[in-house]
Amino acid sequence: MITVIGTGRVGSSAAAMLALKELDDLTLIDIVPNLPQGEALDLGHALAELGIDIRVKGSNDYKDMQGSDMVIVTAGFPRKPGMTREELVGKNADVVKSIAENIRKYAPDSIVMLTTNPLDPMIYLMYKLLGFPREHVIGFSGILDSRRLAYYASKKLGVAPSSITPVVIGQHGEKMFPVPRLSTVSGIPLPNVMSQKDIEEIVKSTIDAGAEVTKLRGFSSNWAPGAGVAVMAESIKKDLKRTFFASVYLNGEYGVKDVTVDVPIVLGRKGVEKILELPLTDEEKKGFLESVEAIKANLAQIPPSYFK
Ligand code: 2OP
Repeated sequence: MITVIGTGRVGSSAAAMLALKELDDLTLIDIVPNLPQGEALDLGHALAELGIDIRVKGSNDYKDMQGSDMVIVTAGFPRKPGMTREELVGKNADVVKSIAENIRKYAPDSIVMLTTNPLDPMIYLMYKLLGFPREHVIGFSGILDSRRLAYYASKKLGVAPSSITPVVIGQHGEKMFPVPRLSTVSGIPLPNVMSQKDIEEIVKSTIDAGAEVTKLRGFSSNWAPGAGVAVMAESIKKDLKRTFFASVYLNGEYGVKDVTVDVPIVLGRKGVEKILELPLTDEEKKGFLESVEAIKANLAQIPPSYFK
């Protein structure tokens, strides 16, 4: 069973995408009375139309996550137009703390994936509070940032987004670090097929993508996070060992310790099965480390009492 905690827009979209992939039965949990039950009912009707026979249950009780091998946390306050993700740190630390206690109690062997912003500090807090192996605690976001780079590059190049292999590491925030030199189309680095101006534009569009969606429609993204969560969950459930970018706890990789940050990983049945180290130039390494510092600065805004 997969549990999705939080049935706002991201949670509902994730549930729908997970259901379409028919990975497992779903339990949707939210603290708002009747909301997860209503979502489960509507989604259940949709699945009956589609001929997809998985079970979807809604609940306000955390104990209903018992028996889950995967818990996907989407709960928390989303950003409003004009806000950065980093500004949500105080509000969402409370949310993560209370959910972590319940996951520890009811799904102690699960693999936990989280989308709550600011992503990197929130997955760090979750990791510390859960005390689970680091392989089981995964911050969603890198797939979103990297596929957004592929999306924008594909528009410039007139090729399908799936034909682009993008590299975006670092913070899921203002200091995100796209690496055009290592991003390729059919093995050709993007700087070889695009002007410097076009590269700068796609990098900027990628960094601003979430804010742009939020500005246009007044609320933040849900379809793209929902899709990314489902694709990553599929790789875990089916042991596909696909590679993604995701925010995971580093313990010396990239010369970095005790921080969660987006890097390339392999996802399989055991969770994070490998952390891959990119061959960064000195300058790229510097950019990545600046991104790590931005995460640490945001992390420092969480009072130490939260980690107990
Ligand atoms: C985004 O980038 C909400 O952080 C999310 O769209």
